[in-house]
Amino acid sequence: LQHLLTIEGLPRDVIIGILDAARPLTELAGQEEKKLATLRGKSVFNLFFENSTRTRTTFEIAAKRLSADVINLNINTSSTAKGETLLDTVDNLAAMQADMFVVRHATSGAPHLMARHLAATRQDHIHVVNAGDGRHAHPTQALLDMYTIRHFKREFHNLTVAIVGDILHSRVARSQIHALTTLGVPEIRAIAPKTLLPTGVEKMGVRVCHDMKEGLRGVDVVMMLRLQNERMSGALLPSAQEFFKSYGLTPDKLAQAKPDAIVMHPGPMNRGVEIDSAVADGRQSVILPQVTFGIAVRMAVMGMLAGN
Ligand code: CP
Repeated sequence: LQHLLTIEGLPRDVIIGILDAARPLTELAGQEEKKLATLRGKSVFNLFFENSTRTRTTFEIAAKRLSADVINLNINTSSTAKGETLLDTVDNLAAMQADMFVVRHATSGAPHLMARHLAATRQDHIHVVNAGDGRHAHPTQALLDMYTIRHFKREFHNLTVAIVGDILHSRVARSQIHALTTLGVPEIRAIAPKTLLPTGVEKMGVRVCHDMKEGLRGVDVVMMLRLQNERMSGALLPSAQEFFKSYGLTPDKLAQAKPDAIVMHPGPMNRGVEIDSAVADGRQSVILPQVTFGIAVRMAVMGMLAGN
């Protein structure tokens, strides 16, 4: 694999290969010497044109654990603010002998545009990792989510998984559905109001539910999503209270799921909007382990792109 741009179309054995490679890397955290030499001498550029806490930081930790030199471009103080185009920025960073770009962008397809440009300008020795583009894809989030499910549930073939909330604007949901389908999860439920579901979502192989209690009945995994207010205009935007009443995950709604169901959230969470604190901090929540697994999974992805 040259770039990681999307989960869609990624073969099952590649996904499983990444999950397998990540497993021993989770154990590095407990060791005195946490570093591997995989990316020694390589320069990884973090280009985050949209805000991030978890993804940017765990990519930085992951690259440093692989001994890369990590450069975090501060977009607000970069020449992007003076009108420099994305591709001019790419060419200039390539001229600084970049080996890998980790990119988050508000425009769907921006990482693909970068990858095509690198190929067209014979610079495709530089790898591109999509760290979230618009509403389109967030492949490493989906991979760390699959790692988390496998860690807690062992197998995929016997699971019922519910994805709940603002599916329409969620790059995370799209990538999760592709990953769960490829890994053979037999039942994926999309729980959301009609206004927050993409048209034709059923064609992705999911069962749509508008009633949350009904949708959660008997599920093994609950994957919550944030209301993406920044991608909505007035008419579409539900009030936080209305949304919480119907689609907020509370202990009584969660009681419909299996007693050993796990609760996931990619973050950032809006407590009291899509999730109650009693659930977010409760015994079934695996939200913080998801973040920790993100380091090993991102190490595995960068290692794989570098040919390891
Ligand atoms: N899950 C996720 O992408 O979080 P950040 O926006 O903090 O990176």
